[in-house]
Amino acid sequence: MSYTALVTGADHGIGFELVRRLLEEGHWVFAGRFNPEEQGLAELASEFGEQLILLDLDVGNDASVQAAAAKVREHTDSLDLLINNAAILGDIETTVLGELDFDEMLQVFNVNALGSLRVTNALIELILNSPSRTIANISSEAGSIGQCYRDSWFAYTMSKAAVNMHSNVVHKGVKARGGQVLVLHPGWVQTFMRGEKDSAATLTPEQSAGKLWGLIREAMERRGEPAEAPVFLDVEGHVLPW
Ligand SMILES: NC(=O)c1ccc[n+]([C@@H]2O[C@H](COP(=O)([O-])OP(=O)(O)OC[C@H]3O[C@@H](n4cnc5c(N)ncnc54)[C@H](OP(=O)(O)O)[C@@H]3O)[C@@H](O)[C@H]2O)c1
Repeated sequence: MSYTALVTGADHGIGFELVRRLLEEGHWVFAGRFNPEEQGLAELASEFGEQLILLDLDVGNDASVQAAAAKVREHTDSLDLLINNAAILGDIETTVLGELDFDEMLQVFNVNALGSLRVTNALIELILNSPSRTIANISSEAGSIGQCYRDSWFAYTMSKAAVNMHSNVVHKGVKARGGQVLVLHPGWVQTFMRGEKDSAATLTPEQSAGKLWGLIREAMERRGEPAEAPVFLDVEGHVLPW
């Protein structure tokens, strides 16, 4: 079975590896490009031809999201899978005893929490037109209130908790039409999210993407009655507390 998917924040890291994986398995992919200077997606485009369509996409910007959605509609009226992957970290050092940067927090919130909802909202009819009707939100264990241990990371943790909440609300809004939302923690991954390669992390982006895609594909193949609420799983498939 070949799916049509869209991945946001796909220039590098986990998003890029998800795109590569989907292409290698023969799926059709729209890849959100945030930084046109990056060459990885262009190289994949020359390797995979019309199987990959590149979209300029800033998930934090209404006009950019609307323009990207319009471009998707020029190619298809149905999208099996949206993977909301794009995110930024913001300050992870300052505790409540320090001076918090609220403007930066608004930016993180706009990209992480509102960005994934903005893209979902713009594409929802295409998603519900498809046989698979699946939205996979790449969240984080950092968004789990139930197992919070941090005393900083305000913007990121709060924005991911908000992703978890909108995932639940979106799921309830689409399940009557056969839609489903998955909330996934990709593990601790060697990406550049902190500004330099996180070499201490336990998974490569390729390993994380392979495991994530396994979880997503399984959920897409196992379609019965949609569950009451979305699942919140880590990359090994273990249930995380909200
Ligand atoms: N790495 C981990 O250990 C880890 C753990 C838990 C959860 N996650 C989650 O996994 C996902 C992927 O992260 P990653 O580790 O692969 O980091 P990453 O390499 O930094 O990937 C994030 C991607 O999103 C892009 N992006 C930033 N702002 C954007 C915007 N406004 N619109 C569209 N794209 C934008 C980034 O572009 P630029 O880099 O050019 O800004 C980058 O390509 C994120 O949702 C993250 O929260 C990662």
